[in-house]
Amino acid sequence: SLSSDDVVLITPIIGAEIRNVRLSGNLPEGVIAEIKSRIARHKVVFFRRQDHLDDAGQESFARLLGELVPHPTQHIREGSAAILELDSGHGGRADQWHTDVTFVPAYPKYSVLRGITIPETGGDTIWANTAAAYDALPEPLKRFADNLRAVHSNAYDYASHRPWATEVEKKHYDEVFRSKVFQTDHPVVRVHPETGEHTLILGSFVQRFAGFDRFASIKLYELFQTYITAPENTVRWRWKAGDVAIWDNRATQHIAVNDYGDAHRVVRRVTIDGDLPIGPDG
Ligand code: SIN
Repeated sequence: SLSSDDVVLITPIIGAEIRNVRLSGNLPEGVIAEIKSRIARHKVVFFRRQDHLDDAGQESFARLLGELVPHPTQHIREGSAAILELDSGHGGRADQWHTDVTFVPAYPKYSVLRGITIPETGGDTIWANTAAAYDALPEPLKRFADNLRAVHSNAYDYASHRPWATEVEKKHYDEVFRSKVFQTDHPVVRVHPETGEHTLILGSFVQRFAGFDRFASIKLYELFQTYITAPENTVRWRWKAGDVAIWDNRATQHIAVNDYGDAHRVVRRVTIDGDLPIGPDG
């Protein structure tokens, strides 16, 4: 099992590297339980040098964390059950703060991301802790958030809200990402089913807050995001090929920094089935 020397905190608030573990579908239950408890505590954990993993290996490890759920609109890699490839050359730049797939009711609880092709420099990913963000809200804003709901959809207007998108990216969003439109509303505050923490469910799939028009929603969204993306609430990972990151998708947002221009970046992700969010009032 893991000793405390095997877990190296990256910041006190979010992120830990776990060493001396070779990820596979054969890890003992005790190690999986410790990995899960570290994810609950640190929100995102990192494993270096997992180059032995192929798609099947990534999936058989991920199955130890729960049931794999394929992306609802994007192509799944051939020969895999649920692997989504994000290729910078084909519109795969996740460069807005988001939580994965919040436009469906029971969105994934974990994501497992493997670095495949990593630029010489740039292409880091940043995660933010949305439980710490909730805690940091002033009391009146907490009370306000506790009663708020937001509408999430993948029918996001990428062309107008992501003006830097390239033609390839716009085509990808129009033809693939939005090929089937989902819309769901979630409480803004979620009671985490394992830790009991209150976390914020926001991110770029939010279209508006219930009772607010789009214009006011954008301002309100930015107010909450100020707390979520505060530097002391984040961790930044410098990828190497073969690294694996696993995050609690119920307690984080993340963004892939789009600073590498034409350099090639490929990562592969599987997500684990989640459950319906419960707000503070049940
Ligand atoms: C994702 O948004 O799940 C992928 C993040 C990344 O490409 O680093």
